[in-house]
Amino acid sequence: MQNGSLPPAQAPSTPSLYGGVTSRRVTVRDLAAAKARGERWAMLTAYDAMTAGVFDEAGIPVLLVGDSMGNCHLGYDTTVPVTMDEIAMLSAAVVRGTKRALVVADLPFGSYQESPAQALRNAVRLMKEAGVHAVKLEGGERSAPAIEMLVQAGVPVMAHLGLTPQSVHALGGYPVQGRGDEAAHQLLRDAKTVQSAGAFSVVLEAVPAELAAQVTHELHVPTVGIGAGVGCDAQVLVWTDMSGMTAGRVPKFVKKYADLRAELGRAAAEYMDEVRSGAFPAEEHSFH
Ligand code: KIV
Repeated sequence: MQNGSLPPAQAPSTPSLYGGVTSRRVTVRDLAAAKARGERWAMLTAYDAMTAGVFDEAGIPVLLVGDSMGNCHLGYDTTVPVTMDEIAMLSAAVVRGTKRALVVADLPFGSYQESPAQALRNAVRLMKEAGVHAVKLEGGERSAPAIEMLVQAGVPVMAHLGLTPQSVHALGGYPVQGRGDEAAHQLLRDAKTVQSAGAFSVVLEAVPAELAAQVTHELHVPTVGIGAGVGCDAQVLVWTDMSGMTAGRVPKFVKKYADLRAELGRAAAEYMDEVRSGAFPAEEHSFH
């Protein structure tokens, strides 16, 4: 069944990523089966055990310990400075905070481009030390040898095409990718190449919706869109963006499902006022 003809919600009897077995984590085989039956799924980023636990309980089947932690969590301007140590520590926290979700960790900038052997060494570290179930890396044809080596070694790989934020300085910002015939053909070639190399899924970031739908139709592995329209098999958002925690402007493709930044700020200001006035702690918060 094509995505375009999917009903808006799954019937209760339809198997779903979170609907069946509850005693184990989602696997890459579950994601392949979801594509085969036309079930859309949601991925969110997570960078700590507490929020990961909230998303896990909410039923988000795949969590990404994205290198977006650089901008969203660690106070860097881009994802470029993020290190293996930072990804490993936060990935371990996300794995500890969850029971059901498949946890994917980003290989950060500089941790896989040198050689497939470097990619394997760092991916194995994330699997052994942090306990993640898969890794993600950016790039199409250029990353295919690394993907092949990881997959042969038993590391599930999610590829990332379109806008690849680790290349922000080479791209001169965060422009939409895949516009025009030549760029569109290259993106399709990249997608088919990473699939042939063994990637179990492909993130498509900031690409025209029509192109993402075509890639999704032509691949047998699931696509995960971010700024890539509704025609992808899955969607991903950065949790701080979709919850309203991010300060200032967010990209056009973000939908804000809450206003947590305002709510947390309000709670902090109220607490501060009550400490100043002596209203907190009250009798019920005191021991005698
Ligand atoms: O690092 C990240 O959060 C990502 C997603 C935006 C796909 O790569």
